[in-house]
Amino acid sequence: MLLEYRAIQRREHGGTIVTAAKAVAHSNIALIKYWGKSNVERNLPAVPSLSMTLDALSTTTRVEFDASLTEDAVTLDGAAISGRPRERVCRVLDRVRERAGVGTRASVESANSFPTAAGLASSASGFAALVMAATRAAGLELSNAELSAWARQASVSAARSIYGGFAELDADAESAAPVAAKAHWDLGMVIALTARGPKSVSSTDGMLHTAKTSPYYPAWVEAAPALFQTARAAIERRDLDTLGEAMEHSTLLMHASMFGARPAVIYFAPPTLGVLDRIRQLRSDGVRAYFTMDAGPHVKVLARREDLGTLDDALRTVPGVVRTLQTGIGPDAHCEIEP
Ligand code: PMV
Repeated sequence: MLLEYRAIQRREHGGTIVTAAKAVAHSNIALIKYWGKSNVERNLPAVPSLSMTLDALSTTTRVEFDASLTEDAVTLDGAAISGRPRERVCRVLDRVRERAGVGTRASVESANSFPTAAGLASSASGFAALVMAATRAAGLELSNAELSAWARQASVSAARSIYGGFAELDADAESAAPVAAKAHWDLGMVIALTARGPKSVSSTDGMLHTAKTSPYYPAWVEAAPALFQTARAAIERRDLDTLGEAMEHSTLLMHASMFGARPAVIYFAPPTLGVLDRIRQLRSDGVRAYFTMDAGPHVKVLARREDLGTLDDALRTVPGVVRTLQTGIGPDAHCEIEP
């Protein structure tokens, strides 16, 4: 508690009070996917999801409420952001101001530990870090469940990034909950980044369109809870093959629902299928590795930590793979004390 309190920086600047806090949150990958909303206005998920937080992919965000500012200033990796991404950040800040009873504008400086332009989802770690830093800088002491609920309003997957290890978010749930800590299981992922295709549809637009037009969407929603239960039990008993099989099925059912939309939502690029094919070959050679994909062409491959090197070597040579990243399991989101 003392440590958390100290995370708030308070100083005078030209006669005005400035309060600031810095938070780090790690990205997460859904092993059992979320796709579809049960309530669009409240941003509640239609299906339960289960994720693994990633060590190597994090966002560090510093929020400073400064009475001398006339508007919120938001930068990502040193460059000012505008338009819809800035509006989403300002909406979080407005909520924080309303709860804390402050009217002060803020400067937000965010940096990703991974290449933002590579098209890896950064909204999960980004909004989790923003909510944590902004609430703390405004003097609010929120529980992890509340932080998760606030992050979910900005981006459903961000709700899970408050927790390290494995986390779950039930259908219709306000907030995510921890399933197992980082130390529970020595797993990791290799992320195969493929050359980017044409500009992809945002996850929100893609899922709303799928729900509206795909005859396969109801089947996807119906199948999701059983897969979630299977995966949850597999994590508990550290059963990689059952978890991996459920993860691949969840991934392909989700993408099948998008293929059935009109017009179809297709995130696969030609190299994506090459990576999937290589994983299946590796498996028939005895390597225990399983794939998942999100709203983009990159493939994330789950395996035991000791197998990541072999896997990385095999995936790097798939035609169209431009880069690979290795990661272990990440920790809880947390505030950082500034020197
Ligand atoms: O929360 P959003 O809007 O970033 O949507 C995430 C959707 C998927 O990444 C495809 C699945 C998931 O559960 O993270």
